[in-house]
Amino acid sequence: MNSGNEPSAPSHVPPGLIAHFDFHEGTAMFSDPWGAFQALNERPDIFYSLDLGGFWVITRKHLIEEVIANSELFSSAYSTIPNIDDDLRLIPPNLDPPHHAKYRALIAQIVFSAKAMANVEKDARAIARELIGAVRHKGTCDIMLEIARPLPIRVFLNLMGMPVERLDEFIHWVEVFFRGTSAKDVGTARLRVLEFVQKWIDSDPDKSGNRILAELKAAQVDGRPLTRDELSNIVLTLFMAGLDTVSAAIGHMLLFLATHPVHLQALVAEPKRIAVAVEEMLRRFGLANLVRVPRHDLEFHGVAMKKGDLVLCSMGIAGLDETASPRAEAVDFDRPNVRRHIAFGAGAHLCMGQLLARTEIRVLLEEVVPNLKRLRLKAGTAIEYKPGSVLTVRGIPAEWDL
Ligand code: HEM
Repeated sequence: MNSGNEPSAPSHVPPGLIAHFDFHEGTAMFSDPWGAFQALNERPDIFYSLDLGGFWVITRKHLIEEVIANSELFSSAYSTIPNIDDDLRLIPPNLDPPHHAKYRALIAQIVFSAKAMANVEKDARAIARELIGAVRHKGTCDIMLEIARPLPIRVFLNLMGMPVERLDEFIHWVEVFFRGTSAKDVGTARLRVLEFVQKWIDSDPDKSGNRILAELKAAQVDGRPLTRDELSNIVLTLFMAGLDTVSAAIGHMLLFLATHPVHLQALVAEPKRIAVAVEEMLRRFGLANLVRVPRHDLEFHGVAMKKGDLVLCSMGIAGLDETASPRAEAVDFDRPNVRRHIAFGAGAHLCMGQLLARTEIRVLLEEVVPNLKRLRLKAGTAIEYKPGSVLTVRGIPAEWDL
């Protein structure tokens, strides 16, 4: 599979397992990432890509699930390929046992409590109605920029009881943070978001009556309070894990519905099917590209891996694995076992925000489907994707009947 003039693979990689797969910069990733993932059905279960400094690619859903769920064999310490060793270790995604569970438990209890989640549906619906109401009469808008991106930011700020006065400025920094084109811009945006987070952390929860902040400040780990760095790390992680992912998922789904009128009309006719449709589309458009690293030299299903090798575990690849989902590229709302996907991961790091995400997405579709009649992509539009840790769509110019 090696095609010549390329960097050589490490000596433990058999030549027969060497190939190319650039999930960051490969031209296909910008125009048709799903086609690029689907093509991996033809590749071995595990192969080694020479791109991006070299990494393993797992191409079967059951093996991807095995890797991400096995924290004893595979570490979660790094999130990117190539590995940007910038000592930012997100809490809890980049923690391994035994530290991971302690932090996860307290975040689950404080941020994702049943009480906090109970308000999300009502809030998400009010925000979705407002966003749709602002564009509906125009008959056209960029649904990615004007609906999919602001929705999760506003829901999150409300959930955390964070100030919404600076919303527009904040949306701008989040946008540059996730989609800036220069390292300098992204660095500045990260600093601004961090400043916002730290200002919130330094505020007095007794004055604002903010329950989440009060409980985070009172929380103990190993018999001591969380440090200011740990607190800002946790909140920054929630931003990073919960804003771009939800926007991306909504974007992929709206793009699909805007280009597949039969599916859209099935939901217009029976809105009760939206919750199941969301599950099928979460599988079909898996957007998280996770990274794992063997904690020591090991053999995984006959393949020798070295401690520190990077292993790509892509939810997009898992969703399009034909051995797990026959006719995997088809979106079929009647697919058996429609919930048996791993779009939210598996094992100890299973997404903590999945209930929040599912609620936001379902509520938004429930508002879009009956209100933006015959939603469709604007004629002549070329869709551009942004590949990376979160595979997203840059913009979706759409129109509908008034
Ligand atoms: C459609 C939207 C979302 C998708 C597809 C998604 C996907 C994932 C995946 C695949 C993981 C596993 C990471 C790993 O194993 O390394 C994960 C973890 C996580 N997600 Fe989500 N996520 C979404 C929305 C959210 C939201 C809304 C939040 C919260 C605001 C959130 C918070 C987290 C956190 C905190 C973790 C780390 C859990 C841990 O390490 O124990 N996610 N997510």
